[in-house]
Amino acid sequence: MSESPPPPPSWSIASMANSAVQFLRLPMLASSGLAVVASGLLYFKQNELIYPRNIPADARTNVPKPRQFGIDDFEELQIRTPDGESLHGFFLRAPSKQSHQNLTVLMFHGNAGNVGHRIPIAKVLQDFLGCHVMMLEYRGYGFSTGVPDEDGLKVDAQTALDHLRQRAETANSRIVVYGQSLGGAVAINLVASNEENGDIAGLILENTFLSIRKLIPSVFPPARYLARFCHQTWTSEDVLPKITKVPILFLSGLKDEIIPPSNMTQLFAVCNSTRKIWRTLPNGAHNDSVAEPGYFEHIHSFITEEVLKH
Ligand SMILES: *[C@@H]1O[C@H](CO)[C@@H](O)[C@H](O)[C@H]1NC(C)=O
Ligand SMILES: *[C@@H]1O[C@H](CO)[C@@H](O)[C@H](O)[C@H]1NC(C)=O
Ligand SMILES: *[C@@H]1O[C@H](CO)[C@@H](O)[C@H](O)[C@H]1NC(C)=O
Ligand SMILES: *[C@@H]1O[C@H](CO)[C@@H](O)[C@H](O)[C@H]1NC(C)=O
Repeated sequence: MSESPPPPPSWSIASMANSAVQFLRLPMLASSGLAVVASGLLYFKQNELIYPRNIPADARTNVPKPRQFGIDDFEELQIRTPDGESLHGFFLRAPSKQSHQNLTVLMFHGNAGNVGHRIPIAKVLQDFLGCHVMMLEYRGYGFSTGVPDEDGLKVDAQTALDHLRQRAETANSRIVVYGQSLGGAVAINLVASNEENGDIAGLILENTFLSIRKLIPSVFPPARYLARFCHQTWTSEDVLPKITKVPILFLSGLKDEIIPPSNMTQLFAVCNSTRKIWRTLPNGAHNDSVAEPGYFEHIHSFITEEVLKH
């Protein structure tokens, strides 16, 4: 690969862990009365913790544009969801005259920042695979309206897929869904509920978790007794096995300090797809696996061997 890897995004689920700890440590160590207050706070504040869309601080007002990264052939999107939100995103066209104009990667980002922060990743995918890339910003993130929650993000993902299905230049395209961290959970749900349609040709999962509830005890230690009250579940370990035909690439950073790589191993184990591929990034941490040697080569081989040949 000739491109140098993109700089790693510098925020992640880690930031939610940090704010959760700052937020909860004091009350949880104090009297039981305060602990009750803390549980209430966790219950009502969990959306802020799980979807830290104001990290970094200007993430709602400063969304980098593809032009800043040398991409000229793109469309800035603002698409309506059936429940009335307006979602921001970008559609980056395949470089002209390149191989796979009939392939589109639909990207779902992690839980902090906005789509602009992931443009360097999209650019490598677009150049290296020669495909279209659609980047969606979930409700409540960047320039999208609304407030994020699990049901809402599922609607957002479906809206993005439907947009590709209706768009003239992608209506007959093979679609590969790619999700990092929280985006992996979003991607799993979308593919599971659309597999029958036959137009999803691949799923790429990077450093994602078994379920949010299982993540809480270690990512928010003070909240370990409260996991059962978490209303955001994202039960990937139950949903992933429903996917049986779409080929799936698992990219696991073995130095992931936020989501133990064993979560990825376990997801791979329960995966029922007849074509599932396991690849590791031996030095990959939670938010820099994308910059590890081999990352995009693994995606390239997966696309060539599992997606385009079938
Ligand atoms: C990952 O994110 C955390 C939390 O925001 C940050 O402290 C850390 O430096 C990041 N790591 C890398 C390798 O970018
Ligand atoms: C693109 O791929 C789809 C699905 O495999 C196929 O039906 C369609 O004919 C292809 N279009 C072109 C222009 O190759
Ligand atoms: C998955 O990750 C969570 C959160 O760190 C951890 O508590 C749990 O043990 C992991 N499960 C497996 C099977 O790796
Ligand atoms: C997935 O495979 C397991 C066995 O590994 C089986 O118990 C389960 O029913 C399968 N699920 C689906 C949805 O096919």
